Amino acid sequence: MPIVMTEKNKRIINVLENKKSDQVPFWFMRQAGRYLPEYRELRAKAGGFLNLVYNPDDASEVTLQPIRRFGMDAAILFSDILVIPHALGQDLRFETGEGPKLNALKNVEDIQNLNVLKIDETLNPIYQTVSQTRKKLADEGFNDTALIGFAGSPWTVACYMIEGGGSKTFEKTKKWAYSDPKSFETLINTLIDATAHYLIKQIEAGAEAIQLFDSWAGVLDHYNFKRWVVNPTAKIVKIIKDKHPKIPVIGFPRDAGEKSIEYVNETGIQAIGLDFSMEPLWAKENLQTLMPVQGNLDPVALLSGGDVLKRSAIDILETFGDEPFIFNLGHGVIKETPPEHVEELCEIIRSF
Ligand code: CP3
Repeated sequence: MPIVMTEKNKRIINVLENKKSDQVPFWFMRQAGRYLPEYRELRAKAGGFLNLVYNPDDASEVTLQPIRRFGMDAAILFSDILVIPHALGQDLRFETGEGPKLNALKNVEDIQNLNVLKIDETLNPIYQTVSQTRKKLADEGFNDTALIGFAGSPWTVACYMIEGGGSKTFEKTKKWAYSDPKSFETLINTLIDATAHYLIKQIEAGAEAIQLFDSWAGVLDHYNFKRWVVNPTAKIVKIIKDKHPKIPVIGFPRDAGEKSIEYVNETGIQAIGLDFSMEPLWAKENLQTLMPVQGNLDPVALLSGGDVLKRSAIDILETFGDEPFIFNLGHGVIKETPPEHVEELCEIIRSF
């Protein structure tokens, strides 16, 4: 039997159900990772990032590390958005200091060679990580901490698959999508199927909420945003909801700006993650009136600490804190961030 349970005392789940909360719940994107010495130690022992990700004992340990230190209201599964291309058969490497590298997709044949039917052969350890993490959270008394599962959205994952790694503008991917949308759509459809399946398996292993990361949503013009960000996200949300109607989905269309309104109205998500470029008052008036929002402290304010951190965090809390709101960063924790600054931020949020 799949375990799908949420408990009433989990603040984040309450907020995602659009209820107000006695305290503002919080978690931070990339809360597990290189800024924590205990992460760096385990990663060195494991001999690389992917070894960690595919080892349920290690990955569940890393998921819990920030919870033990800081007691966030949610743990996020320790994995990466690029396990989907990997599971589909694309070569994936993480070279220290260089970011991810994949063997770039070049043509329709490369897309046709991706195999959705076999993804669980690669992804099974990740489902085990989810169930082990739920068990460890309960065993260690973190009964109010929700477990968030995640995946990248098709557009963002396609960007890495076609560029073969990171990029500033993702021009190769955009050119393919703009000039040959038919073949690009076959890739997006493959990613919709794989991602929906992967997320349903995470839910059935114990994930209580899902976040979809669309880190490169902001590079598209309006027409292509609708076609490659909004529509595929709506399809994934629908497939998940048909099976698990109560599991909330948080969308994070980074740098989407005012196109976020359309994203909120047309995807079926329950909450929207705001990047740090989003003006809080605009977001309060145009987005938080429609659904709970999550965000959006600049990770550099956290890196800086002191007065900048305090002022920025309080400003966000004062803007969003009266309506359903989850405090988060506007992008991931930067690896040079002192853990003491994270502790300070937790204190600021808790005492608000
Ligand atoms: O938030 C968490 O704590 C959960 C784990 C998580 C990771 N990656 C771990 C990771 C999550 C949610 C992600 C998402 C992810 N991965 C995104 C979307 C969010 C975003 O940042 O925009 C993207 C674009 C990726 C792809 C990716 N993975 C890149 C570009 C990199 C290299 C950049 C970097 O920070 O080094 C990674 C590697 C990665 N993913 C690390 C971690 C902890 C660092 C790996 C290491 O230990 O060297």
